[in-house]
Amino acid sequence: MPSPAQAAIARLPQADLKSIFTADPDRLSRFVLTQGPIRFDWSKTHLTDDLMDAFLTLAQERDFTGWREALFAGKPVNNSEGRAAEHPAERGQGNADSVARARMFHARMRALIDAIEAEALGPIRHILHIGIGGSALGPDLIVDALGGDGLRYDVAIVSNVDGTALERAISSFDPHTTLIAIASKTFTTTETMLNAASAINWMVEAGVDDPYGRVVALTASPDKAIEWGVDETRILPFSESVGGRYSLWSSIGFPAALALGWDAFESLLEGAAAMDRHFRLSAPHENAPLIAAFADQYYTRVMGCQTRALFAYDERLRLLPSYLQQLEMESNGKSVTREGDPVDGPTAPITWGGVGTDAQHAVFQLLHQGTILTPVEFVASIEPGHALDPAHHRALLVNCFAQGAALMRGRDNPDDPARAYPGNRPSTTILMEDVTPEALGALIAFYEHRTFANAVLMGINPFDQFGVELGKEIAKSIEADGPKGFDPSTMALIGIALGGG
Ligand code: F6P
Repeated sequence: MPSPAQAAIARLPQADLKSIFTADPDRLSRFVLTQGPIRFDWSKTHLTDDLMDAFLTLAQERDFTGWREALFAGKPVNNSEGRAAEHPAERGQGNADSVARARMFHARMRALIDAIEAEALGPIRHILHIGIGGSALGPDLIVDALGGDGLRYDVAIVSNVDGTALERAISSFDPHTTLIAIASKTFTTTETMLNAASAINWMVEAGVDDPYGRVVALTASPDKAIEWGVDETRILPFSESVGGRYSLWSSIGFPAALALGWDAFESLLEGAAAMDRHFRLSAPHENAPLIAAFADQYYTRVMGCQTRALFAYDERLRLLPSYLQQLEMESNGKSVTREGDPVDGPTAPITWGGVGTDAQHAVFQLLHQGTILTPVEFVASIEPGHALDPAHHRALLVNCFAQGAALMRGRDNPDDPARAYPGNRPSTTILMEDVTPEALGALIAFYEHRTFANAVLMGINPFDQFGVELGKEIAKSIEADGPKGFDPSTMALIGIALGGG
């Protein structure tokens, strides 16, 4: 049974985007919001005042403000695992004890970084960061977005268990001047532990004196890191209540803090903290993550859109789509509510995307003329990330804005339907002043809170991820006991490729 607000949302007629603008020329005043260095523009979505009212009622029905307070108070919002979700504490926001603990861990990280810079571990030129999922995607995004050619060390972030990834990464590294950072919340993840062991072997084979002395562990399981052979003085812990895909602010961000410098890392945290304050203190009707979640809910649950696409019109943000895939799909790709009941509609759409303008020449055909409606998000920066002719950045931004206009406007062609564009296709534009540490911190925190807001509106827990376990367990059982009792297809594949069938 839909709730009264859900019924109201479903009943509201959908107007064409162009007519929405004609009927409401002042739309920008209500559907554009600037928060610090970022301008969010939802005016080219189907959100109207009536829809906003209905969604605000839905937020009340779902006790959005109560859940938001519980998040910041360090209450166990991750109910299935009986844990808080304290990534905001890493930015100085939330429960006082958790904030103090995060500060202590940051101080420890900073001290180790100072020691590394002072060559206490010998000369270091390269950082080999080994981790996967949340222990890789966040640091990779930050280092890639903010590093440019100003990185203090060469950084390689290796995640895949495919040895080609590690081999390629170390091919240009000198083992005698490399620092290995093993990033794993649990310190049990198969891929990470295998890559870490191979990295140590690489050092041993090259005759490095004390390879374990060149290892730093970034983890919420310090005991496991000690067992593995990392000296306690080089373990940078973080709290168990910081989820893997929300952990770049903790010691998992170590390669970024080391390679970009501590000031940049602190600015990243401060940018995120500003977004935390906005999310926590702003009224629902002017709350950027919540409004974004309203649009998400509308397209997924009312319009039945199964995907959402994000295009970074800035090469510095090229890793943003893959970062968001984990954040959004691992958080909200669920089928049951917090109480374990079946959900009352679709949950997270598939997040996909790429960079502009490349994507225009590859996938935009479907966005403009395909039969599957896809809400599009553009992310761009007013300032360029390079010193070349300003014509580059101008062309980039002109293209970005042209695509949003074209999706909305469309074009009739009564003589040739193949050349007609239906239009009425929604897009959101997120315009940053520049890709600075502050702005990037705020942008990522915006996405985190938007993911949480979506979960609250759907009544699900965004902080667990049991769906990833079954495949891991089966792989482990094949390694431990050999292939037994599988279907004929799986048995044959194993037999042919691994010789164990
Ligand atoms: O398998 C999924 C997952 O548990 C993610 O949630 C996590 O970010 C990733 O694996 C890596 O886990 P860990 O940091 O414990 O190695």
